[in-house]
Amino acid sequence: TILILDFGSQYSHLITRRCREINVYAELLPCTQKIKDLAWKPKVYDDDAPHVDPAVFELDVPILGMRPFIKLLHTVEMAWNLGGKVDKCQHREYGFAQLQVSKLGPGHESADSLFQGLNEGIDVWMSHGDQIHELPKDFHVIGKTKTAPYAAISHKTKPLYGIQFHPEVTHTPKGREVFAQFALNICRCKANWTMESFIGKEIARIREICGPKGCVIGAVSGGVDSSVAAKLMHEAIGDRFHAIMVDNGVLRMDEAVQVHKMLSEDLGVNLTVVDASDLFLERLADVEDPEKKRKIIGNTFINVFEEEASKIDHATKNERGEAKGEIEWLLQGTLYPDVIESISFKGPSATIKTHHNVGGLLKDMKLKLIEPLRELFKDEVRALGRLLNIPAHLVNRHPFPGPGLAIRILGPVTREQVKILQHADHIYIEEIRNAGLYDKISQAFAVLLPVKAVGVQGDKRTYEQVIALRAVTSEDFMTADWFVFPPEVLRRISSRITNEVSGVNRVTYDISSKPPGTVEWL
Ligand code: XMP
Repeated sequence: TILILDFGSQYSHLITRRCREINVYAELLPCTQKIKDLAWKPKVYDDDAPHVDPAVFELDVPILGMRPFIKLLHTVEMAWNLGGKVDKCQHREYGFAQLQVSKLGPGHESADSLFQGLNEGIDVWMSHGDQIHELPKDFHVIGKTKTAPYAAISHKTKPLYGIQFHPEVTHTPKGREVFAQFALNICRCKANWTMESFIGKEIARIREICGPKGCVIGAVSGGVDSSVAAKLMHEAIGDRFHAIMVDNGVLRMDEAVQVHKMLSEDLGVNLTVVDASDLFLERLADVEDPEKKRKIIGNTFINVFEEEASKIDHATKNERGEAKGEIEWLLQGTLYPDVIESISFKGPSATIKTHHNVGGLLKDMKLKLIEPLRELFKDEVRALGRLLNIPAHLVNRHPFPGPGLAIRILGPVTREQVKILQHADHIYIEEIRNAGLYDKISQAFAVLLPVKAVGVQGDKRTYEQVIALRAVTSEDFMTADWFVFPPEVLRRISSRITNEVSGVNRVTYDISSKPPGTVEWL
């Protein structure tokens, strides 16, 4: 295992990800983590600046300090009195730089091993405002850039390394090799973190948790996380896992039918689809405020899910009323980034972010949470999905918000408005797929605007609605860029929507980035 101590870098999760990519299990913890609670046992300075416990350096394990490892070096000084000096640098270094690797030769194999197999000049991404001015005792330079004479350093005898560039970002093309050198050759980690091995281990863990009789219920939405989690539960405990899909009336076109076909008919998951669209739409009538829409949908979901779960609970009793197996667990598709977010150094919070739908369920139904994906990043979930035979078009699907089309219909939500938006959205996504662009876009959807625009059809004037199209690329949805379509694709989409969707005579394309816009319109 590679233990990643987070000093608040925005890239910490990427570092974890890069280790996983070379099949080495890596776990991220805040730098202030009380390590006494873990198998690794250092203890923590309680200072205003973040510091790692100096005992980390006594663990006798290889250490790779990355930007902002400067802070780590302060700790090194304290821990070992090595006497390195760190200061603000005169020229801040942001962006590409050439790292000149210095090979030290025989007798320095440990120092040379970090960049083994790489050229003497490596393109790296720098981003720092402070740097080392004096080497700590017993360290030597293994790489420098034009402005950073100590851009990479290593201890003379111990496997301790410090690098001032970011190996985890794609702008450092050989970053993966640096991780591989450190994790596989220096730490001698086994490259055994694969989704193939994860499936077996996780199924065994689920079986142990649930025991021979325990039942689990869980909501599925048609998204990749809940589908993969459901299929994994099915593999582990068969029909003792009950999936519930609530059709809230604001799903994409034919979503409920398709999810039923895929999960139940093709993959054998024990699934109940509840059509609660009347109830949702009734409660949403005349509501325009997006937060109210979200609340209504969240609460109604809980009502419907609980009712359905109690029916399932009944059904798990035999004719004499004896429990064949009790529903004790609620499945949730929490992913590792949610876990990281809750423990990250910048945003310490005791609880893991819980989907708005689930918090209430746990309390009301006295269920315990089971989270089989909580160790996984999104692309690992996708890889797992492929291994579990979930179809490719679903595995690579764009995210879809819980409140669904209700937050993409800017005015009141009615069945007619839902139909118009479903139809336009369907055409939009179909044309994006036909053009081979779906996987290049992070999220694409149509929005129904609450205005009527003038148009002309035949020799008549029309006053009809306007569809806005949104397509963005994004790493993590915290920031996003609008997607540049080839004009002929937009032309085809617009022509199809205005011809085929009755009630719409105009189509616009949203060219706002986030910030200042958001991905959704509400
Ligand atoms: P924004 O609009 O905040 O969206 O830039 C970022 C990502 O979050 C999704 N989103 C939601 N997902 N419930 C959800 O489950 C919501 O209420 C919600 N609002 C936004 C959005 O689709 C995008 O992927």
